[in-house]
Amino acid sequence: MAERATDTLVRFARIVSDAAASEEMMPRLCEALVEHVSADGIAVVVLEPSGGARLAAEHGLPEGARSVSFEPDDIGADLGRQILGAAEGAFACERTRPLVAGGGLFGAVVMLFRSAAGPPEESLLLAEGLVDLAAIALGSAIHVAQLEKQFTDLRTSQELLARTEKLRALGQMAAGVSHDLKNILNPLSLHLQIIQRALDKGKIDDVKESIPEMKQVLVRGLETLERLRDYSRQSKESKTELVELDVLAREAAKIAKPRMASSGGGRVVTIREELTGPPAVMAMSGEVVSALVNLVVNAIDALGGKGTITLRSGEHDGGSWVAVEDDGPGMPKEVEQKIFEPFFTTKGSEGTGLGLAMVYATMQRHGGTITLDTAPGEGTRIRLWFPPPSPASAGHRL
Ligand SMILES: Nc1ncnc2c1ncn2[C@@H]1O[C@H](COP(=O)(O)OP(=O)(O)OP(=O)(O)O)[C@@H](O)[C@H]1O
Ligand SMILES: [Mg+2]
Repeated sequence: MAERATDTLVRFARIVSDAAASEEMMPRLCEALVEHVSADGIAVVVLEPSGGARLAAEHGLPEGARSVSFEPDDIGADLGRQILGAAEGAFACERTRPLVAGGGLFGAVVMLFRSAAGPPEESLLLAEGLVDLAAIALGSAIHVAQLEKQFTDLRTSQELLARTEKLRALGQMAAGVSHDLKNILNPLSLHLQIIQRALDKGKIDDVKESIPEMKQVLVRGLETLERLRDYSRQSKESKTELVELDVLAREAAKIAKPRMASSGGGRVVTIREELTGPPAVMAMSGEVVSALVNLVVNAIDALGGKGTITLRSGEHDGGSWVAVEDDGPGMPKEVEQKIFEPFFTTKGSEGTGLGLAMVYATMQRHGGTITLDTAPGEGTRIRLWFPPPSPASAGHRL
């Protein structure tokens, strides 16, 4: 008998471990109890995660006993008696076993017998073993379901976080691009003033000179806007071309010049060129012009209307570099450490603190480096180094 009981338990353990969900498991428990314990009626009542209780499986219950509505509090001593009463004399006695595992109560199994004597002691022991096994399986199924839910919740919140982060980065990029756009479009008003004056004086030749320059500025402005569009589309592709850093430095100086008029009354800022024609590099010319405009504008601001800005270029480590240098006040250590952080500015409401963060991002996108040399009273030099073009990259995209 003991051997048969062990056999039954082992077989049932296999059945419950194969059952994917508690819905499959409970009918199997009923079958096993009918077969091995000779129960005449069975009711498996389980607690719901939502807080209720329901009849999960049954065998041989008359209609009255099946339609009882269960409360979680019924899962105790009274459950068996309640079902026995509802069966209206179909059974003589009941044996109830709670579904308990790992300290959790998941429900109860009520076994009903027609004979008043109930099952023999051995059968009852086997029944308890079967119910306990089902409880363990039910406990782990619930645990797995909880873990799955936690995992799904975690993934959802991670995705939300990633989306929020992307939006934050996009917002920062939008602010940076509008900052660069303002820098680039500023000279247009200067050109318009020149055209107005020339037209007033009937000097058509001066107008002719200004128009190609205005066109170029507009092209750079449109390129700047396209950067934002590429970024918001998460486009990995950006157009690069072979560019000469000297040409871009001259263009940037021209674009930044109007800033001089608005800083310092009547004093003089000179822009010098020590450009040495280093080899061309693969770059997004619009972005590099924006970066250099940022550097020149910062130098103009630092000089407060008086001093010299020097544009330099050269070769280093196989690549080429371009630098903007000024003989202004330089920076104290605490400023120097923060200048590439977005929104760091010492210019109060006059500055956004996005200029150098944009320069930094540009150099990262180009696989280049940015070097800062400064000290209080010693001026500032910021150098942008670009790697040599790889043979395969010429005419392609980054
Ligand atoms: N050439 C320079 N000399 C001295 N300080 C500088 C120089 N360039 C930048 N800085 C310091 O770095 C800070 C950050 O520069 P960044 O270009 O990022 O922002 P900003 O110039 O303050 O604002 P915005 O670019 O919107 O005008 C400046 O506020 C200034 O304190
Ligand atoms: Mg700036």
